[in-house]
Amino acid sequence: MCGVVGYIGKNKALPVLLDGLSKLEYRGYDSAGIALVNDELFIKKKKGRLEVLKNDLNVDDFEQNIGIGHTRWATHGAPTEINAHPHFDNKNSIAVIHNGIIENYIKIKEWLTEVDGTNFVSETDTEVIAHLISYFYDGDLLDAVYKAVDRMEGAYAISVICKDEPDKIVAVRKDSPLIIGIGDGENFLASDIPALLKYTKKVLFVENDEFVVIKKDGVTLLDEFKQKVERELFTVTWDEKSAEKEGFPHFTLKEIHEQPKTFREILNRRIKDDIVLEGLNIPYEKFKQFNKVYIVACGTAYHAGLVGKYVIEKFASIPVEVDIASEFRYRNPFIDEKTLFIAVSQSGETLDTLQSLREAKKKKATILSVVNVVGSSVARESDGVLYTWAGPEIGVASTKAYTSQVLIFYLFALKLALETKKITKENFDSILKELYNYPDYIETILKQSTKIQEFADSQFNNDSVFFMGRGVDLYCAYEASLKFKEISYINSFAIAAGELKHGTIALIEKDTLVIAFATQKRLYDKMLSNIKEVTSRGAYVVCIAKEGDTDVLKVADEVIFVPDSDEDLLPLMNVIPMQLFAYYVSVARGNDVDKPRNLAKSVTVE
Ligand code: F6R
Repeated sequence: MCGVVGYIGKNKALPVLLDGLSKLEYRGYDSAGIALVNDELFIKKKKGRLEVLKNDLNVDDFEQNIGIGHTRWATHGAPTEINAHPHFDNKNSIAVIHNGIIENYIKIKEWLTEVDGTNFVSETDTEVIAHLISYFYDGDLLDAVYKAVDRMEGAYAISVICKDEPDKIVAVRKDSPLIIGIGDGENFLASDIPALLKYTKKVLFVENDEFVVIKKDGVTLLDEFKQKVERELFTVTWDEKSAEKEGFPHFTLKEIHEQPKTFREILNRRIKDDIVLEGLNIPYEKFKQFNKVYIVACGTAYHAGLVGKYVIEKFASIPVEVDIASEFRYRNPFIDEKTLFIAVSQSGETLDTLQSLREAKKKKATILSVVNVVGSSVARESDGVLYTWAGPEIGVASTKAYTSQVLIFYLFALKLALETKKITKENFDSILKELYNYPDYIETILKQSTKIQEFADSQFNNDSVFFMGRGVDLYCAYEASLKFKEISYINSFAIAAGELKHGTIALIEKDTLVIAFATQKRLYDKMLSNIKEVTSRGAYVVCIAKEGDTDVLKVADEVIFVPDSDEDLLPLMNVIPMQLFAYYVSVARGNDVDKPRNLAKSVTVE
């Protein structure tokens, strides 16, 4: 939700800012802006994609070595040029970019109008920050930022430059991500690692309530009481290429195709005769004390959590609750020291997930997280973290991160089952052996791309699509439906197949497209009956079934086969054909697949 970037150093700032913003555009793309400083403050902002801003700037015209940049996902105020960041004060000497929400901005606005006659030009919450800092400014930018922050409530990663102190950027964070990149004679700031990969691998994570003064030759980290903080630098292992499209037309397609590779990577690193849960940080002995697992996440990560529930209950026989983070926070969940709380998050910065984790911590649960972005807030605040190691995911629609989260749940559940003696070593070993086949299985699915594209080309004009399944197939249907709606903009709905006749079947008419997952043997006959219920009302049914299933051919109009494997493991790959389907429908409709409208990759507001 909004991307921030900053540069100070020996080189020109503008190209670095524009390049950094292009890597952060997945966080928001309603408008973009930059501010540069030397003797004067120069600000340029534009409504629309970063490209619009770039087209309005000739980089050769700008020699400044200090600047900040922002790409916006609008929360307060429409996506207009005036509401775009950076925001500035009435003297045009202080410029501010912000990711987050200032909750008491109306109060501050009223107060500044009264005490200082401040003239506000935008509808945003962020603008008050610039005016507040300006109000307190008395020749010391850092001091003014401290005083301003003291008045602010909410979540923020704020970066400030000042015409009268053009040798520094001052930044501060609370509940919104902020990292500092350390270079040689130059330093950087950003919301996320991909913005910095081209320039440095050395990163400093800024924690909540910390302030940073970033100069050309050094970075000073301070706590809320202005005391210096020492922190070790983190070395990023992702390479620059991993944040490029590498010949694919879209990041989303590249990331779908990366899934065999991410599976191989995870399996090779996490299986060494036994399952190695590096990062778990919870003694296996403690597993026996847990009487409940609580999984909390949002969106696609929530769907991975549902599969997590299925596998933990199936293999380790521990009851599991799964909750949507924005709901969990406002319930009074039964959590205590015998609960294992698992937060699932690709970005590790989703605010609702992070706040849920903090709630669970207060209730004394042990906190484990399944996270992709190394060093992110969710990871840092957990007792243990199982990284998914999927590499940067840039496409807004989550694909490879989802399947890697699901794989981590399998590995965790199997290890938990083995340690608590709920599974025999023989059974455990045979499942591990089969897991090694999954990268190849996924490649087999990806080879059906042409067939799936043809199908997408014949279906992209639909008004609505229904997804259905039973048991763990239902969880796959949920994820397939979310993927489909978010990038196709076609109304889609996922339903437990057995629920159809309790209402939803009223919506089925001639040619309604229904995608049915039918991979679970125990529920197979029931599923075929549900398929017949909709075909007899005219629906066009496409089935996801196991290779070798011939009965399904008799009831469905089309079948997409996934390789024949242990049905308990199939959720690891069942969604992949539907990722491709969603992708090709989105392309056929001319949508911006990587940056679907109204969305942002990292949701750092409530
Ligand atoms: C959908 C999607 C979102 C995210 C959700 C949680 O494709 O990407 O639903 O899964 O916003 O994000 P993370 O996993 O970063 O917490």
